Amino acid sequence: MASSFSFFFLMLLPLAVISAVTPCPPSQRAALLAFKAALTEPYLGIFNTWNTTDCCASWYGIACDPTTGHVTDVNLRGESQDPMFQKLGLSGYMTGKISPEICTLSNLTSLVVADWKAISGEIPACVTSLSSLRLLDLAGNRIAGEIPTEIGNMRSLSVVSLADNEISGEIPTSIVNLRRLMHLDLSNNQVSGEIPYDFGKLRMLSRALLSGNQLTGSIPKSISRMKRLADLDVSLNRLTGSIPAELGKMKVLSTLKLDGNSMTGPVPSTLLRNTGMGILNLSRNGFSGTIPDVFGAGSYFMVLDLSFNNFSGRIPASLSASKFMGHLDLSNNHLCGAIPIGSSFEHIDAASFSNNDCLCGNPLKAC
Ligand SMILES: *[C@@H]1O[C@H](CO)[C@@H](O)[C@H](O)[C@H]1NC(C)=O
Ligand SMILES: *[C@@H]1O[C@H](CO)[C@@H](O)[C@H](O)[C@H]1NC(C)=O
Ligand SMILES: *[C@@H]1O[C@H](CO)[C@@H](O)[C@H](O)[C@H]1NC(C)=O
Ligand SMILES: *[C@@H]1O[C@H](CO)[C@@H](O)[C@H](O)[C@H]1NC(C)=O
Repeated sequence: MASSFSFFFLMLLPLAVISAVTPCPPSQRAALLAFKAALTEPYLGIFNTWNTTDCCASWYGIACDPTTGHVTDVNLRGESQDPMFQKLGLSGYMTGKISPEICTLSNLTSLVVADWKAISGEIPACVTSLSSLRLLDLAGNRIAGEIPTEIGNMRSLSVVSLADNEISGEIPTSIVNLRRLMHLDLSNNQVSGEIPYDFGKLRMLSRALLSGNQLTGSIPKSISRMKRLADLDVSLNRLTGSIPAELGKMKVLSTLKLDGNSMTGPVPSTLLRNTGMGILNLSRNGFSGTIPDVFGAGSYFMVLDLSFNNFSGRIPASLSASKFMGHLDLSNNHLCGAIPIGSSFEHIDAASFSNNDCLCGNPLKAC
């Protein structure tokens, strides 16, 4: 372990030389040491490099502004590409909590303390004073408590990932003020309450990953105003209501996962007609009505999963005209009639059509 560590230390040296222009102010060094004191990293020794006067030189995971010496990046990732992790055959493990001292690093642009599995405690509310912070990634820990209410004050935020933690409470309404937010990942927490009705104000957002929480209420119509939204995943929550028809008119939306909720109503024809839609999972809800007959040569679905709903009527004939159908699942509905014939269907097996009322034809029994 010792030799691996010095190998890693040597690799860092060239970086240290480049960044050792202005040393870090003593107050920033003290803040980092207080941050370190609240954490325990027993296996890799990443904090062993935090033993010199200049925190801008050779401290693992720390980067500074070369002219002011102010700390700009705290980048501690437990599932790192760093050769140290692979050489030692270890992934990250750290206990303790995120000290509020981190908030005194007022020029911080990225705060990454991710994938350490066991960091607990809460997100210090004072992080909302970090007005230069662009990247906040605390995913893959055991952080509990709520998302700071004033998160909307962090006007520089572009990426927020708090996935795979134990965060509870509601999505703060102030979040819609993050006009630069491009990527929001709150997956696999215990976030409850409704998605803010004006969520659509997040005009720069391209990925909204809210899967695996306890969200209730319906999908706000305002989402359809998000011109850059490519990926919306609200699967495995407790959402109700129907799909706003406007969602089908979104130009760049290509992944929509609503599976595992309690949503009802019909599937808007706009959604299935949208040729940009590549992954659509509506499985395990209470959707009903017929499947709109609006597929065509522009339909290119890697995933179209409508299983475990209450769809009735026939499988639309136009589905066989679709260009590509990677994974189709229509099982566990109330569909009836002949399965259409078409080249995009040939590889689809019987399980994709099972447990319906009276479907027939290849790959099921002949009509
Ligand atoms: C800091 O720790 C490293 C790694 O354990 C060691 O090689 C180095 O001598 C230490 N430096 C000081 C100033 O203590
Ligand atoms: C660094 O933070 C100080 C205190 O908040 C602020 O006055 C200064 O403008 C910041 N500098 C940069 C480059 O953001
Ligand atoms: C669609 O969602 C269901 C329910 O969450 C899941 O079991 C299924 O694997 C998903 N389908 C695909 C193709 O990923
Ligand atoms: C399923 O749809 C039928 C009519 O299409 C309706 O009568 C029935 O209540 C629905 N069942 C559920 C569980 O939603």
